[in-house]
Amino acid sequence: MGKRALITGITGQDGSYLAEHLLSLDYEVHGLVRRVALADGSRLARLEHLRDQITLHAASLESYPSIWHVLGRTSFDECYHLAAQSYVADSFADSFTTMNANVCGTHYLLEALRQLQPRCKFYFAGSSEMFGKVRETPQSETTPFHPRSPYGVSKATGFFLTQNYREAYDFFACAGILFNHESPRRGPEFVTRKITRGVARIKAGKASELKLGNLEARRDWGHAADYVRAMHLMLQQPTPADFVVATGTMHTVREFCDLAFAEAGLDYREWVQIDPDLYRPAEVETLQGDASRARSVLGWRPRYDFQELVREMVQSDLQHAGAEAAPAKPSQRFKIVG
Ligand code: NAP
Ligand code: GDD
Repeated sequence: MGKRALITGITGQDGSYLAEHLLSLDYEVHGLVRRVALADGSRLARLEHLRDQITLHAASLESYPSIWHVLGRTSFDECYHLAAQSYVADSFADSFTTMNANVCGTHYLLEALRQLQPRCKFYFAGSSEMFGKVRETPQSETTPFHPRSPYGVSKATGFFLTQNYREAYDFFACAGILFNHESPRRGPEFVTRKITRGVARIKAGKASELKLGNLEARRDWGHAADYVRAMHLMLQQPTPADFVVATGTMHTVREFCDLAFAEAGLDYREWVQIDPDLYRPAEVETLQGDASRARSVLGWRPRYDFQELVREMVQSDLQHAGAEAAPAKPSQRFKIVG
């Protein structure tokens, strides 16, 4: 067995792809999971195919003792901190929960690692949302932050915490500044998956419209399977540093709709309704990343392009359109510690 890694947020989209990637590199993979998720098998669905190969530890980002307990029991070579309240719209609805989980949770983890496992390498899941009201296009590691949501503020704070632990304590801590990345495993609340599920439901006769907000917002969308490779590469470098990870191409939500509906032989203009309630109090209008540093230092390049990403997501949702009500799998079959 190779190195041992801890992934917080292993039940999420990125956590599941990263777990697969690390297993393929012969890592021993452990995950930090909320106890509530262990009790609710449906939240482990993205890991079902890996259940015999990973070890899960119950802990919450809100509880320093629970994190301390996990790190006091097992030592890790690398820690990928992906857990967060990651939905921007929700961060406006409940900014306090977002701040507690994303800021305090990151601080708890960094401090517990410093105390218990100072040689464990640390990855922080930073976000292009930190750029917010962008000062320049494309955005790189030197572009100033101007977050536009409580989520963006929380990620900028986590970024600076990570940087400060690196500079103050000589801790191997890196932040990825990842632009939007999607997949068939994307949560259904995010716009890409909302669109591809909507397409499949309309095609299957289960829905007659799709309500969306701002169709003119522009994002630099990549595939999650590509982006987790960059996370791993960051922790294999001789010195810790922060990296932008992006495709460098930008599309509007409208363009995503157009392509996704066309993939199913539909015209989005006949099915999409604008719902003003889905607009955000402060919007990030445009994001486009410059991943030159990741390309030259990490040797990282995305394998998927935009068309392939949209096609894979639509095809997956079309296939599953008839199986949405499948019962949750029992969680008991996972190896759970504590
Ligand atoms: P995701 O699918 O929403 O997954 C979030 C994960 O965090 C889930 O495993 C969730 O667990 C866990 N979590 C949330 N609150 C928690 C808490 N209080 N205690 C313990 N675990 C908690 O997010 P993702 O798309 O995989 O993104 C991974 C990370 O990258 C996040 O930090 C996100 O903010 C960041 N990021 C994502 C993107 C993107 O485009 N996907 C871009 C830049 C940065 P449950 O299953 O229990 O809810
Ligand atoms: N979710 C959602 N639902 N977004 C909509 C909708 C809708 O019905 N209609 C339009 N949008 C627009 C949003 O206003 C936003 O401009 C854009 O679609 C993308 O929204 P999301 O898919 O929710 O993603 P996000 O860009 O806000 O945040 C994601 O990417 C960040 C990186 O830039 C999340 O994954 C964050 O966790 C991540 O950090």
